[in-house]
Amino acid sequence: MKKEFLDLGKQPITNSFLNEGEFDNEFLFNLKAVFDDETKLVSLKEFVSPEMMFNNVYAHRASESYTMRESFKKLAKKLQKEFFPTGANVLEIGSNDGVFIRHFNPDTTVAVEPCSNLAELTNDMGYKTYPEFWDTNLAKKLKENHSYFDLIYSANTISHIEDLDEVFKAVKLSLSDNGIFIMEDPSLYHVMENVSYDIFYDEHVHVFSVTALNNVLRKNGLEIFRVDNLSVHGGSNRIYIKLSDNKYQEVEQSVSENLEKENVFGINDFNTYLSFSNKVEKSKNDLISILKDFKSQGKKIVSYGATYKSATIFNYCGIGTDLLDYVTDTTENKQGKYTPGMHIPIVSPEKGFDETVDVAYLGAWNFKKEICQKESEFLKRGGKFVTHVPNVHIVEIENG
Ligand code: TYD
Repeated sequence: MKKEFLDLGKQPITNSFLNEGEFDNEFLFNLKAVFDDETKLVSLKEFVSPEMMFNNVYAHRASESYTMRESFKKLAKKLQKEFFPTGANVLEIGSNDGVFIRHFNPDTTVAVEPCSNLAELTNDMGYKTYPEFWDTNLAKKLKENHSYFDLIYSANTISHIEDLDEVFKAVKLSLSDNGIFIMEDPSLYHVMENVSYDIFYDEHVHVFSVTALNNVLRKNGLEIFRVDNLSVHGGSNRIYIKLSDNKYQEVEQSVSENLEKENVFGINDFNTYLSFSNKVEKSKNDLISILKDFKSQGKKIVSYGATYKSATIFNYCGIGTDLLDYVTDTTENKQGKYTPGMHIPIVSPEKGFDETVDVAYLGAWNFKKEICQKESEFLKRGGKFVTHVPNVHIVEIENG
């Protein structure tokens, strides 16, 4: 049975950065989260159709951040060294702008990316990219056109797909006997621990615990053999998966350790979710209150990073141009547009992050360290970054 525990109100499509004049009739949906007491899976209650979210104007570019570029490069090298020293057939599901596959041989690498503007990018880079959604039909087509894959990799994509049984059946069809499937997505444990409720938005159809994934994978003939806890995206898990009947890969201790850690935390207990929901409400009140305090002192407040996450925050908390002058973002195709729902203008940091800014809400709090280093002058002149993670506070320079 699915039990509701979180109601973040009416929300827009987070990738829907609007032009002036496009504000009327904006699509909104009810952002609510539910807990399945059988599988322990946390999902949205209401889903937005994938075609509305992933399209030919998709804005997010994984390569925008130095942290992400370096993290994908390091991973590609590590996997090649540990598992595939002599090469491998590689498939990436959700290849975005090629930030990961660019480190693999284009002759033996295939990509799947339903956002056709991005698929075009990686096709131009020489990587055969299918501009389609991942499912068993596509898996069958890939098997005919290519072969089995030794490595299937997918970052921040599987959590976007509603039908997990279909996803994992398609993976099973495509994986070579000793092949490995690696998926990484935000970790529910970290979201609950950090009250980073902004991980809930239209695209994050599920927020995975290792516990829930373990349950869903097992019923699809797949098994987790390693879990890496990562700091990217404010806490993610990299889950290494094999076919259940592959005896070659041993199941490592990190799997039972993570299951135990989550169990102790209360991931299996619905009461934990109710208490999370109370913390979310407190976080909202505290954020509104700190921003209002600054505003009443005559401070100029902006937001740093037009993230998808911040769309959840602004719409849930009702934070708009009454509190924030604008949002700065380095992504060119977000600049000159307006944030979804609350319609706050987005400008480039060159234009907007100047000496007139007193306070900046860290929309891209997951890059706090990178941003504090980059903006050390702002901090030195007394500028303040505000974040809501793990509770609403002003970022201290020495912690940055
Ligand atoms: P991301 O971390 O992918 O968050 P989400 O998935 O919630 O959108 O996006 C980070 C955004 O922040 C992206 O639009 C680029 C922007 N950004 C800056 O404007 N300046 C920076 O220094 C960094 C690191 C990111």
